[in-house]
Amino acid sequence: MKLWSGRFRKETDALVNDFNSSIHFDARLYREDIEGSMAHAAMLGEQGIISKEDAEQILAGLQEILADIEQGKIEFSADNEDIHMNIETILTQRIGAAGKRLHTARSRNDQVAVDFRLYLKRQIGEIRGELLHFQQVLLKQAKQHTETVMPGYTHLQRAQPITFAHHLLAYANMLCRDVTRLEDCMARMNECPLGSGALAGTTYPIDRFATAQELGFAAPMNNSLDGVSDRDYAIEFLSDMSILMMHLSRLAEETILWCSWEFKFIELDDAYSTGSSIMPQKKNPDVAELVRGKTGRVYGALMGLLTTMKSLPLAYNKDMQEDKEPVFDTIDTVKMCIPVFAGMIETMKVRPENMRAAANRGFINATDCADYLTKKGMPFRDAYTTVGNLVYYCQEHGKTLEELSLEELRSISDLFGEDVYEALRMETCAMSRASFGGPAKAETERQIDVIERFIEERMGKA
Ligand code: ARG
Repeated sequence: MKLWSGRFRKETDALVNDFNSSIHFDARLYREDIEGSMAHAAMLGEQGIISKEDAEQILAGLQEILADIEQGKIEFSADNEDIHMNIETILTQRIGAAGKRLHTARSRNDQVAVDFRLYLKRQIGEIRGELLHFQQVLLKQAKQHTETVMPGYTHLQRAQPITFAHHLLAYANMLCRDVTRLEDCMARMNECPLGSGALAGTTYPIDRFATAQELGFAAPMNNSLDGVSDRDYAIEFLSDMSILMMHLSRLAEETILWCSWEFKFIELDDAYSTGSSIMPQKKNPDVAELVRGKTGRVYGALMGLLTTMKSLPLAYNKDMQEDKEPVFDTIDTVKMCIPVFAGMIETMKVRPENMRAAANRGFINATDCADYLTKKGMPFRDAYTTVGNLVYYCQEHGKTLEELSLEELRSISDLFGEDVYEALRMETCAMSRASFGGPAKAETERQIDVIERFIEERMGKA
């Protein structure tokens, strides 16, 4: 019999029963549901809304149920619709009358809202930990390549010389923002909806500050209608995860390019690659491709929940039961993607010689050549045009800038001297970009320091 069967005279249609039920996915919230119920019951006892004895029986009963769920001893039922009613029903079966008092001054609407926030807070902590670890992996690789010259690209065309460390640090910096975005999300999420009731609070003398504190929230939510109506915290989380996946998808794409024969800047470890069922020579970057691909489902989750919430009148609507699956799927996806990606980056072999060879072709020191003339007194715009002409000349003659003779260079500008060859060396070009944030060794080391401190400040701190 349904908990709410009083006002009904017919059984729920079997199809409706299954359709309506969310237990097959919200069973995940069992721990948070029990925590929320325990905080609520303890508060009811403290406030004299139920007796201390009833409160104690409820707490003990819930503890036992938690242990039994964790040992796989409990089977939930779709007849009890969701995790909230499943646990309440089991509690009452076990402890009798006291169990029936648990739902005093509470609704499933504030119950699900508090469960979901508690669950997300925990998951954010774990994802943040994975991200910090991933950053450490990027730093470890970067430290070994502060002098590994490679072409930096725009439009996927070789542009200017940078180092592999500089490139990896770009991602490490993006991840810093992914981490702080999660922290911001957590801070905003950290208010407790419990005690909002169905929508309009309650006539009982509940203590929302006590339950908020007991559950580790900074404060109770300020408005009961808002408390049960909004899912902005879940949407914000999904949007943070979409941005994170966007970042990962870019590094995934670059990894795929880099390990192609066209680039061969890196080689993935055998443990992080897969073979082909027909082509014996193949070694494919499936991990990177899957991360790139899974970005789509995380974006989909964000769009899905935004659309579910669009135009919903206040307060709770059953539509909102659709909030959980996209969030759960995103959590599972991201928690797989980050560590497997980190492992792939940690074990990849870098091929500095191929990066260096790529840097040799594509005139990526052309800006440096123009800067050379500018530093000798020519206005930059004129130097820019002069070097453009030189590049044209080089292409006609199948040469690089540094392969031109001093006579050839001087025929274009007599500002060129012997020292131009040193100025055009790729190593010089990369290492003398010492402006703040640039690829020069000391600068990349400074960047590594900053991110190391960022990680240290957070490691071990939730
Ligand atoms: N299973 C529901 C959900 O996930 C719990 C809230 C139900 N509230 C209600 N009024 N039907 O949204």
